[in-house]
Amino acid sequence: MDLKGIYTASANRYDGSETMYRRCGRSGVLLPKISLGLWHNFGGVNPYERSRDITHYAFDHGITHFDLANNYGPPYGTAEETFGRLMDDDFRPYRDELFISSKAGYDMWPGPYGNWGSRKYLMASLEQSLKRMKLDYVDLFYSHRFDPLTPMEETLQALVDIVRQGKALYVGISNWPLEGLKFADEYLRRHDVPLLIYQGRLNMLNREPMEQGILDYCHRQGIGFISFSPLAQGLLTDRYLNGIPTDSRMARNFNLKKEVLTPELLERLRKLNAEAAREGETLAQKALKWNLAQDGVTSVLVGASSVAQLEQNMKV
Ligand SMILES: NC(=O)c1ccc[n+]([C@@H]2O[C@H](COP(=O)([O-])OP(=O)(O)OC[C@H]3O[C@@H](n4cnc5c(N)ncnc54)[C@H](OP(=O)(O)O)[C@@H]3O)[C@@H](O)[C@H]2O)c1
Repeated sequence: MDLKGIYTASANRYDGSETMYRRCGRSGVLLPKISLGLWHNFGGVNPYERSRDITHYAFDHGITHFDLANNYGPPYGTAEETFGRLMDDDFRPYRDELFISSKAGYDMWPGPYGNWGSRKYLMASLEQSLKRMKLDYVDLFYSHRFDPLTPMEETLQALVDIVRQGKALYVGISNWPLEGLKFADEYLRRHDVPLLIYQGRLNMLNREPMEQGILDYCHRQGIGFISFSPLAQGLLTDRYLNGIPTDSRMARNFNLKKEVLTPELLERLRKLNAEAAREGETLAQKALKWNLAQDGVTSVLVGASSVAQLEQNMKV
């Protein structure tokens, strides 16, 4: 950033390229092993300058992938608005160096067309997302969750048509069960829009994508896998080892409930933290390394409420 506040990306941003980027399944796309998620900390309630500092730090250190969704905020939509402002203020000259994703699938607007997996919802939602983010297209668009009541063909054909319309370059699915993943893989392959990536919650405390065979299926089929909440929303860091800080997600947000922090979990976290310290690293770094070491994991999608957190997380 120069004196006038005009952002110029660091000339050294790709210095760590040999170890930073990983191929996403059997596609042509390389993703950074650490990607940045804008679920929390980038909404209308958060200071813009901090969002700006964190995203600058990320891009200056080779993080090319930013992950959003229609309802990230709070309020809903405002993380995408923040990102649109960042595009206007800073990132427009770097558009082709960025890999931006968004999603639709959870509740976004009232009435029958603002939720789940209909063609009506996905198409309308992406239109809105592009306007908020001030983009002509996203690099990746996801069905954010499996909809048991909408035919899978309808959701998947909407993804195919979104690519055909040029509004997304690639498609992904998130939070779909294994059988749905298999169906999506076959359907999308048949329609020449191969499934680029699966986004699932994977961390040392929650290994469902491994236990359910999802990670293994992606690995075998050449589909990328990106782990969300790799730090279990902050549990797998030093954040809660000595109480609940007032500025933490657990204190501020209903998405991480105080009840999860049982004495048993705290004891387990303290043991993991001591193990990490013996290995010369932080608990967050240990958790991210564990994640990136699993066969089939392309990238971990971290959140951060400060530059210092992201800086620590990138040292893996
Ligand atoms: N597909 C889906 O359904 C889905 C669901 C959830 C998330 N996601 C994606 O995954 C992204 C990441 O999710 P997440 O935010 O839950 O990830 P996370 O990395 O597990 O948790 C991030 C939180 O952990 C704390 N933290 C991070 N680094 C730290 C460090 N070094 N030391 C201490 N605390 C640290 C911060 O909490 P404080 O705020 O308390 O400082 C931060 O907000 C989201 O932004 C979104 O893009 C997708």
